[in-house]
Amino acid sequence: MKIAYLSLTGNVRDFVEKTGLSSIEINYNGPYEEVGEPFVVIVPSYDEMITEKVSLFVQFGSNEQNLLGFIGSGNLNFDHDYCFNAKDLAKNFQKPLLYTFEFSGTPNDVYQFKEALNQYAGAGIK
Ligand SMILES: Cc1cc2nc3c(=O)[nH]c(=O)nc-3n(C[C@H](O)[C@H](O)[C@H](O)COP(=O)(O)O)c2cc1C
Repeated sequence: MKIAYLSLTGNVRDFVEKTGLSSIEINYNGPYEEVGEPFVVIVPSYDEMITEKVSLFVQFGSNEQNLLGFIGSGNLNFDHDYCFNAKDLAKNFQKPLLYTFEFSGTPNDVYQFKEALNQYAGAGIK
């Protein structure tokens, strides 16, 4: 199981590093890479372009078949727009929204994220 992630200012990258799991970073300017195994996608929240770029990544090669679900990073001050990109992607691709967290996440977020992977995505990680 892998994490594919997009990060514009480093928060999501920091979160992914804290998980210690295998990952690939989605290239915002050329999101065309095939993961080739089951994976989840973690996205930050900014504007519609995030949804568009990540959609290109998901639609590339066999990615959509291997995709287990989405996770969002955001800021609760954005209120009803909190993590809207991850929510929109989950809806558009009919995959679960597995978890959301603020900024680069707390130790508890890392724990809850792994719990969600095991519970909903059958990841089998510790
Ligand atoms: C210009 C701007 C717009 C943002 N818009 C949203 C938003 O609509 N919803 C939200 O939950 N967070 C929003 N955020 C917060 C970021 O998604 C959050 O800080 C995230 O952790 C950034 O991840 P990154 O550093 O990996 O790019 C915004 C941040 C910036 C700077």
